[in-house]
Amino acid sequence: MSTISIDTLKSIKVNGKKFAAITAYDYSFAKLIDKAEIEVTLVGDSLGNIIQGQPTTIPVTLDEMAYHTTNVKRGIESSLVVSDMPFMSYATVPQALDNAAVLMQAGAQMVKLEGGEWLTETVFALTERGIPVCAHLGLTPQSVHKLSGFKVQGKDANAAEKIAAEAKILEQAGADLLVVECVPSSLGKTLASALDIPVIGIGAGSDTDGQVLVLQDMLGITDSAPKFSKNYMVNSSSIQDALDTYRAEVLSGAFPQPKHGF
Ligand code: KIV
Repeated sequence: MSTISIDTLKSIKVNGKKFAAITAYDYSFAKLIDKAEIEVTLVGDSLGNIIQGQPTTIPVTLDEMAYHTTNVKRGIESSLVVSDMPFMSYATVPQALDNAAVLMQAGAQMVKLEGGEWLTETVFALTERGIPVCAHLGLTPQSVHKLSGFKVQGKDANAAEKIAAEAKILEQAGADLLVVECVPSSLGKTLASALDIPVIGIGAGSDTDGQVLVLQDMLGITDSAPKFSKNYMVNSSSIQDALDTYRAEVLSGAFPQPKHGF
């Protein structure tokens, strides 16, 4: 597979095709993901839950994100490596610039930030300095306490319009990618058609440009995987086979099914 860039993802979208993304936290799995030709590898702060056994992503530190990013990047040749900026590491523009630099120097090719309009100046400042940004809207797990739990977002018309407006603002500020998590499938579709940048969904229906899953959820390792995930080990003979099947199903549109959506 040739190296995946922002332009690769944009041209997949323009051509009406789909791409796959998945989380990774270490070198060994990153190698399998790259071999499966999965287009985007996300070093998610979900490592707080998955690797550390924490109830939320809030305890994850910048040093931990940098450590896992370095290890993942060593296993990747082609996939685009995106790293999460952890809780409060981008609360102000100067913090965001300093901390994004740490992740980029650890091997990230893009950083992901959770939040809406309040990030406009931050997204502009990062992208103007050559740091690509993936925005993250819908369910933003770092705000779990403010959201009163891990709940589907954008359910009523006003809330959906607010997310759509914020997505447009972040695109205009320079974001190159958007992750949208746990929103009605209709909103996932609206976002993908309203934005020029590729939209990656997780629990956002089948009409987004890409799909992302948490690796351990789709390998059936997580105790109670969310309803938007699928256990790909059930019909697979190996982890490599599961990853290959996941990508094939995303590209063909076989995943996700309506039962995986809201
Ligand atoms: O941290 C993470 O793994 C994520 C995905 C669930 C999108 O942000």
